[in-house]
Amino acid sequence: MTLAETIKTDGVPTERSEALPSGTTLLGDQFTITRPLSSGGFGITYLAQDNYLERNVVIKECFPEAFCRREGLEVLVRSHTHHEKYRAIVEMFMREARSIAKMRHPNIVGVHRIFEDNQTAYMVLDLIDGRDLLNIINDKNQVLTPRQITETLIKVLDAVDLVHKQDLLHRDISPDNILLDKWGSPVLIDFGAAREEASRETRALSAVLIVKDGYSPQEFYFAGGKQSACSDLYALGATFYHLITGKAPANSQTRMAEFAGKNPDPCEPLAGRFDDYDPAVLASIDKAMRILPKDRTQSAREWANMITRNAEKAPAPFKLEPDQQLGKTLTRLVSETNEYVRNSKPLQNKKAPTPVAPVEKKKSLDWIDEFNAETSKSSGGSLSLPKLARKEKPVPKPKSRPTSIELIPEIAPPPINPRFGLLGVAFGKLVGRR
Ligand SMILES: Nc1ncnc2c1ncn2[C@@H]1O[C@H](COP(=O)(O)OP(=O)(O)O)[C@@H](O)[C@H]1O
Ligand SMILES: [Mg+2]
Repeated sequence: MTLAETIKTDGVPTERSEALPSGTTLLGDQFTITRPLSSGGFGITYLAQDNYLERNVVIKECFPEAFCRREGLEVLVRSHTHHEKYRAIVEMFMREARSIAKMRHPNIVGVHRIFEDNQTAYMVLDLIDGRDLLNIINDKNQVLTPRQITETLIKVLDAVDLVHKQDLLHRDISPDNILLDKWGSPVLIDFGAAREEASRETRALSAVLIVKDGYSPQEFYFAGGKQSACSDLYALGATFYHLITGKAPANSQTRMAEFAGKNPDPCEPLAGRFDDYDPAVLASIDKAMRILPKDRTQSAREWANMITRNAEKAPAPFKLEPDQQLGKTLTRLVSETNEYVRNSKPLQNKKAPTPVAPVEKKKSLDWIDEFNAETSKSSGGSLSLPKLARKEKPVPKPKSRPTSIELIPEIAPPPINPRFGLLGVAFGKLVGRR
């Protein structure tokens, strides 16, 4: 069942919903609402059509229902006293959309537009053709293998790592907020920064909007609870606990109460219970789900490293930014080589130097460009040595150069390999060290 079909049967807003009716246009005639997908207490999500690009998209409407109501198409504040709060939430919604848009990551939903209309804000998202993890868990006909689950976890960790590096928290990681696209790759959706803004108003509201039993860590349940990266990691752990065991873990408040009473944890750890999994994966989830934040894994990268450290069985390596590593190594080797060339004695007779035709700068730089073009082509791929073979046609200058290589064009290259010049030395060293 694809997402579109899922939505017809699950979670469609009820008749009392204040969702915009199908066929409503937004931003002039740019978008047309196809139908609502879901209505949380904070926003309404629609399947829509981008009429200019002629494609389906998802549109999220900022609609914190505790503060606003619909009149016609317009969204109006419920009372004057809510006006400021409502505007703050709309601002936060827009800010959140901008932050998500900055994070270009294959496992984070793409935001490609935000706009204001009907006195509220909208964000336009890529439509992910797939299903959410909750839907998959509940479908007995589709079972993910331990390997698929581990791969999914590693990819989501990479996405969450980026979120945290932007000083953001997701705040609502749960199986229904991770979609698996049609290639089986996970995509994180539904960031909750704006909900956080709404929750500051009343804790009663926050209980409705912010906390998801089973997934939210205990610090989400009380006012002033310090939320940090490890709060998201708890929720991610709980999500994968559910995926592995088929059951959502015990609510963290209950766990906390039992912990305080020195009773057994109602959430049974995973370690030792599932032979098909790498023990490191199970242990890492248990650690992320510790009750006290100080006992948990503190960063997504640290968690990923726990899994991939036992590398042999790890299905896919956590991204190590290989290009940057290669770039650094090359820069260092080239600079060492330049240093060597500078300090080398000239090959020619000192007394009667044969006039050496100045090295044609352009020629020298051609192959540097060629090299850089090759390295920039390989950017984003795995660590591999660039091809250095000359091509007949000049390679156009790449716009950006991931690897910055400084050469001293005036100095003739040492007689290593006339074709590769200084980089030949650099690569000789690099290959020798690998
Ligand atoms: N970009 C998207 N592509 C496909 N489906 C989506 C997308 N965003 C949301 N959905 C679907 O709509 C549901 C609700 O959206 P979500 O952003 O999680 O809002 P909320 O949970 O606040 O109602 C999701 O669980 C998912 O099934
Ligand atoms: Mg959601």
